[in-house]
Amino acid sequence: MILAIETSCDDTCAALVTDGGEIRSNVIASQGLLHARYGGVVPEIASRRHLELVDAVIADALERAGSRLDEVETVAVTQGPGLIGALLVGLSSAKALAATRRLPLVPVDHLHGHVTASTLGPERGAPRSPIEPPYLCLVASGGHTFLARVDDPATYVVLGQTLDDAAGEAFDKGARLLGLGYPGGPEIDRLAGEGDPEAFAFPRSAPRELDFSFSGLKTALLYRLRDEPDADRADLAASYQRAIVEALTARMRAALEREGLDRLAIGGGVAANTELRAAVQDLGVAVWVPPTELCTDNAAMIAGAARFLKPLPYPEYLALDAAARIQ
Ligand code: KG4
Ligand code: ZN
Repeated sequence: MILAIETSCDDTCAALVTDGGEIRSNVIASQGLLHARYGGVVPEIASRRHLELVDAVIADALERAGSRLDEVETVAVTQGPGLIGALLVGLSSAKALAATRRLPLVPVDHLHGHVTASTLGPERGAPRSPIEPPYLCLVASGGHTFLARVDDPATYVVLGQTLDDAAGEAFDKGARLLGLGYPGGPEIDRLAGEGDPEAFAFPRSAPRELDFSFSGLKTALLYRLRDEPDADRADLAASYQRAIVEALTARMRAALEREGLDRLAIGGGVAANTELRAAVQDLGVAVWVPPTELCTDNAAMIAGAARFLKPLPYPEYLALDAAARIQ
């Protein structure tokens, strides 16, 4: 049994997952509302809140799994990338928990977690077969947007990534321009359902083959609102969302063809997007879209990645440091 902790951004998460990838519990305490009034995550507030919540979240994960700490064999934790103060709370808790019981610890790359989310087995009572390599994975979140090739679940190769904003950031910034709330993705998703996606022509910028760029799109929305202040908000949201989804699907199609892959997984918060979820079904390959709680930040995916990595024995991990960036 693996106990995993994830505190890289604004969600305090703990999960219990078996070696075989069965999720016994996956607790996510979202700080979303706390940061909403600032229009984005405030790092200092995030780390303080993690500190207040982390013990209770771990206790809750154990209780929901019907497990005791004695049954935990390995502790896994996000080492980075993320907000350094936020990461440190999870890492310190994980080290303390593991060290007091002389358990091994696995430091996990947050992005590897996202790439691995679809390899997790069914939740109890909800059968769903996990994806197996080789596969292509799109991770599109508020902080990251990249395409990865997975041949071996212990690692991944980045084929392309965003050169500026992440896709989730494009949703969040677009929503702000449209006067919608934060996080913007779900707001645009909802409003887009009432609008015409062909009403406005937004640019689909095409940088290098498998890379993404979203900052031009945001600027195009800004100019459109300046030139046409009374433009229909639902039409704008639908057209803006269409441009993001088409940029993502075009690169996925190109990567699948170039790499000769016929399995696709998507992850990251943007994978919750209704239009994107529908669009990937038309790519002509087998698609794994995890349930939303595995797409957004969570600790089950951290345990998921840890399953394939070599744990560090006690006391080797005591000197580990969090890393805001991971090369
Ligand atoms: O993975 P995530 O929870 O956190 C990280 O950034 O790591 O992703 C959050 C991002 C936010 O930018 C949010 O606006 C976006 O995912 N998002 C969505 C939707 N739900 C969340 N974007 C588009 N459509 C959605 N339904
Ligand atoms: Zn994430």
